[in-house]
Amino acid sequence: MERRTIGATALSVGAVGLGCMPMSWAYSGSRQRGEESLRTVHRALDLGSTLLDTADMYGPFTNELLLGRVLKERRREAFVSTKVGLLVGEQHIVANGRPGYVRRACDASLRRLQTDVIDLYQLHRADPEVPIEETWGAMAELVRAGKVRALGLCAVGVRGGRRPGAGLYDATLRQLRRVQQVFPVSAVQAELSVWSPEALRELLPWCEARGIGFLAAMPLGNGFLTGTLTPGEGFEPDDMRARHPRFTAEMMAANQPIVAGLRRIAARHGPDVTPGQVALAWVLAQGRHVVPVPGAKRARWVTENAGAADLRLTAADLAEVAGLPAAQGSWD
Ligand SMILES: NC(=O)c1ccc[n+]([C@@H]2O[C@H](COP(=O)([O-])OP(=O)(O)OC[C@H]3O[C@@H](n4cnc5c(N)ncnc54)[C@H](OP(=O)(O)O)[C@@H]3O)[C@@H](O)[C@H]2O)c1
Repeated sequence: MERRTIGATALSVGAVGLGCMPMSWAYSGSRQRGEESLRTVHRALDLGSTLLDTADMYGPFTNELLLGRVLKERRREAFVSTKVGLLVGEQHIVANGRPGYVRRACDASLRRLQTDVIDLYQLHRADPEVPIEETWGAMAELVRAGKVRALGLCAVGVRGGRRPGAGLYDATLRQLRRVQQVFPVSAVQAELSVWSPEALRELLPWCEARGIGFLAAMPLGNGFLTGTLTPGEGFEPDDMRARHPRFTAEMMAANQPIVAGLRRIAARHGPDVTPGQVALAWVLAQGRHVVPVPGAKRARWVTENAGAADLRLTAADLAEVAGLPAAQGSWD
């Protein structure tokens, strides 16, 4: 698989990564597919999808434990990307950016992941009670201690409660400017997909101009862009899409022209090319600093998604995607 580099530290990864969240969190059946999830991670490494993106809060903790079972045997083949800063309670999720907590959380992640170093340690969310410089300073200490190789920041797409006229990523850009004063940012993680292209406007160019890597989260539009979901079929109550404004039967039906467009482009590239692969190839085409991390808990999805690294969209394909209708249904 084509390789890409993450940030100034030039850490090299396969162009298509693997988002491990659906194996333990946020999707139907997340907690029921342990063995298949293990096969999925192994398949990703076999195919060169080396960047494995997880977080301590996925599960919570079980996603890192799962990855640890693979890393125990194949650490050298993997690029381990995890996150700190969110704590899962009984009924809610809270941010914790206190330096002492960050140090303890890192040690706990290392233990669960069965490794002595994390390649990319990302701040999942800033703690409004703690100046971000303090949190980032503690993370920088972890780099100096050799427990972490590089630091990343997850974007806050402030949906809802946004000031009129403010950009979706204004708050993230402010945070990035502040933490850059403390220690270099190697990667930013934010949603980027055909139906959520907002990061293209400011965030992606900001990263590119500074040699910062960009991890594209939710590049398949939470599965919608693969064309495998049927409007009206519904989701289990523990599936985040059960509450997502774009996944009501009405909005899924209204957004079908986007999938149809991806299907048309796929057909031009061959009978086996899928809309999901076109969606990932579109993300890959947004810059050499971009690495999509499609989430999956099935090995066959990983095989299909890895195939997107070989799909080169033409200028006409990209223009056709740009001309697709904007997605309907939003948090705003
Ligand atoms: N930083 C953050 O705040 C943040 C937020 C969200 C996500 N993320 C990261 O981004 C990663 C990706 O996001 P995501 O997993 O939510 O969304 P996604 O990658 O857009 O979509 C994942 C969904 O697509 C399905 N899928 C994957 N490949 C498929 C294929 N080839 N054909 C049909 N369906 C396919 C998966 O199904 P199965 O579940 O059945 O495998 C899963 O339901 C996460 O795993 C996580 O690492 C980060």
